[in-house]
This record gives sequence, structure tokens and C-alpha cells, in this order.
Amino acid sequence: MSDSREGAHESSERDRLRASWESNAGAWTDAVRNGRIPSRRAGTDDAIVGACERVLRTRASARALDVGCGEGWLTRRLASPSVHATGIDASAALIDAARRTPAAPGAVPPSYEVVDYEQLRGDASRVPGPFDLIVCNYALLDDSLAPTLAALRPRLARDGSLVIQTVHPWVAAGDGPYDDGWRVETFTSFDRPFPSAMPWYFRTLESWLRGVQAAGLQLSGLDEPRHPETRRPLSLVISARRRAT
Ligand SMILES: C[S@@+](CC[C@H](N)C(=O)[O-])C[C@H]1O[C@@H](n2cnc3c(N)ncnc32)[C@H](O)[C@@H]1O
Repeated sequence: MSDSREGAHESSERDRLRASWESNAGAWTDAVRNGRIPSRRAGTDDAIVGACERVLRTRASARALDVGCGEGWLTRRLASPSVHATGIDASAALIDAARRTPAAPGAVPPSYEVVDYEQLRGDASRVPGPFDLIVCNYALLDDSLAPTLAALRPRLARDGSLVIQTVHPWVAAGDGPYDDGWRVETFTSFDRPFPSAMPWYFRTLESWLRGVQAAGLQLSGLDEPRHPETRRPLSLVISARRRAT
């Protein structure tokens, strides 16, 4: 493929990815809120909440940014009397669902904004921070990892932490090649149908770690939560901090 045709292919995959979330918003909200995602029940929700709490518990007050927050479960979970949580997502339908759902009584009410990662990359004044915690839970789904992380880096407080949870590459690769590239999620393992298939970009472990490094971040933790019974990896949790420039 020529460079320009390759670029057009990548952006059309990204467009389809974003559009899929708009049309899957209802099915996704139902799946998350009714505990229909087995891996989440088995431990990935606890894993990301635990990783975030380790960052937040040392601070008397904190600002947290949930990137690609979806219908906002994690934003609400992080919000507390001492934590102001902000959720951003490209899907207006998901942000609408988030805004309509209150956080726990006493928590600082979370803020939500419809923001695409492209806007974060292009405009430093959008959601400027600084944030003590930036979390991306299964939300870095396209091929622009390092540029998106590089846009998040200046939004982190100097001693802040970025936490990313993603599918475990060795499990997600299945029997296919262990190479970066676009794949398609059809949500057939969910017990209710989703209207649209979702293109997503598979990354090897090496590619995730290179992306973190290329964005001017330094790895501070790498966790592999496991299924309590099968002991197979459920996900990969990457923690990083700002690298001094
Ligand atoms: C698998 S869902 C995860 C949602 C949420 N983090 C959670 O844990 O339930 C992926 C989310 O990433 C968002 N997303 C994907 N690409 C995006 C982009 N380029 N800009 C902003 N949000 C994006 C989608 O709209 C979707 O809400």
C-alpha cells in the first residue's frame, strides 16, 4: 500500500472505531452496568480500581482524569470527597449516560466532556489538568498510542501517574500472528448482540512499552492480573510517570 493509501486506511479504521461506540453505546452501558462482562467480574475492575487507589491514597486531595471513560463507571468510582474526577470520551451518547448517573453521596460531582483524543493531541488547552492520576481503562484502542500518550504527559502533575489497563497481548493474539495490526471485535462472546463490530489495534507487549517510552514516560509498574481459577492472565496493567526531559 502507498503511504497515502495506508494513511487513509488508518483514518477510516479510526473513524469506524469511533462510530462503533456511538452505535454500541446502549448495549455497552447495559453490559457494564449489569455485570455482563465476565473478565470484569473475574478481576479487571478490581485491578484498575486498586491501581488507581494506590496512586490516590497518598494524597489529601487529588484530580483524576478517566480517558475514554465510556458510561463513566470508573469516573464515578474514583470520585470522592477528596477526589475530583473528570471523564472524557468521544462518544456523546456515552457521555450523556455518564452525566445522567450521579456519583456516590458526598463525592465531588464528576465532570464529563465529549473529547476525542485527536482534540487532546491538537489543543493543549482542552482538559489541561494537571492531574495526579490519568487512567485509560481499555480505552487506547487505535493505532496512535505514542502521540496520544505524549498529549497526556503534560496533563500529568509532576509527581502524577498514568495507569493503563488493556487486554493481555499474549492472550488477545490467540492463534493469530503476534504482530501489531488492526483487528475486529464482534462482541459475540457477550450474551446480548451489539449493533456494530469494532475495529481495534492489537499491540504486542513490546509495542506497548515502546509507546510509553516514546511519549516521554517512564514505566513504574507492570501487573498481570490473573483469573482466580484458571490463573490465565486477564489483562495487562501498565503504570508510568513523567520522565524528566
Ligand atoms: C472499551 S470502552 C471502555 C470504556 C471505559 N473506560 C470502561 O472501562 O468501561 C472504550 C472507550 O474508548 C472510547 N474511545 C475510543 N476511541 C476514542 C477516541 N479516539 N477518543 C475518545 N474516546 C475514544 C470509546 O468511545 C469507548 O467509550
